[in-house]
Amino acid sequence: MANSNRRIVIIGTGFVGASYAFSLVNQGIGEEIVLIDVNEDKAEGEAMDLSHGLAFSPSPARIWYGSYQDCKQADIVVITAGANQAPGESRLHLVERNTTIFKGIVENVKNGGFNGIFIVATNPVDVLTYATWKFSGLPSERIIGSGTILDTARLRFLLSDYFQIDTRNVHAYIIGEHGDSELPVWSHANIGSIPILNMFTVSEEDEDTFKQDLDDIFVQVRDAAYDIIKRKNATYYGIAMGLARLTKAILYNQNSILTVSAYLEGKYNHNDVFIGVPAIIGRTGIKNVMEIQLNESEKKKFASSVELIKSFNQTVNK
Ligand code: LAC
Repeated sequence: MANSNRRIVIIGTGFVGASYAFSLVNQGIGEEIVLIDVNEDKAEGEAMDLSHGLAFSPSPARIWYGSYQDCKQADIVVITAGANQAPGESRLHLVERNTTIFKGIVENVKNGGFNGIFIVATNPVDVLTYATWKFSGLPSERIIGSGTILDTARLRFLLSDYFQIDTRNVHAYIIGEHGDSELPVWSHANIGSIPILNMFTVSEEDEDTFKQDLDDIFVQVRDAAYDIIKRKNATYYGIAMGLARLTKAILYNQNSILTVSAYLEGKYNHNDVFIGVPAIIGRTGIKNVMEIQLNESEKKKFASSVELIKSFNQTVNK
């Protein structure tokens, strides 16, 4: 790791970047937080506002409005900058605009001497994680997209609410594109080691109604961003907390399994794509991609998601 001071550089201090910085400070994650934005006043104002709250933070930290030169000593650079979805707009609609923005950002980070781990949050996150890997030339294990980390959290929240069981005892993953082609891995989902498809006895529903309830829950997960954006024009708290969780796993070498956008080199029988899969996350980045034994239906949906992302990766390779 580049620096003993656990330095995180956040590029983009819009809703997501600022909420992520706020999450880090409130959870005491990281010791140096550097904010960079094309709107310099915004970045400086966020740094000042957050610094004034440090007396309430669980651990000391330094927060400042910085420059790309601060990347040299950074452990992690997190990119949240870029255009956001308009109401009703899919994440993939953003690919042209944000790929162009990313080319400039990654070039500046490289020129700033960075040799740590990239976290990518901007959408379409799977394509932009691929772009960051291509533009940076860093090894793929050090390029991590937020992937379906938030989708998985949404699924676990909705299932915990449905069964009235602590979220932490709900083990279920969303994999695939962080977008409309994502899929739930029902075949391996479990609550307290009971396969979720056997849980209809707990729900006191007949099996068909129960399965329809699960499908309805998945649709709420898949469409959550559209539903939130329709109401408040953006999403940021959930993703910010997911980024903080991912950051903690890296900085404190936790070897946590999180569904991030990771590079496949044969796992799940796919190659040359960043996509949401469960991966072990530690101080060196992605330590291993966990290969769930998907059923035939899940394999087909996952393959469709891979092909969709790859078709948009062509924008990067132009
Ligand atoms: C969402 C954004 C982070 O799903 O894509 O809320």
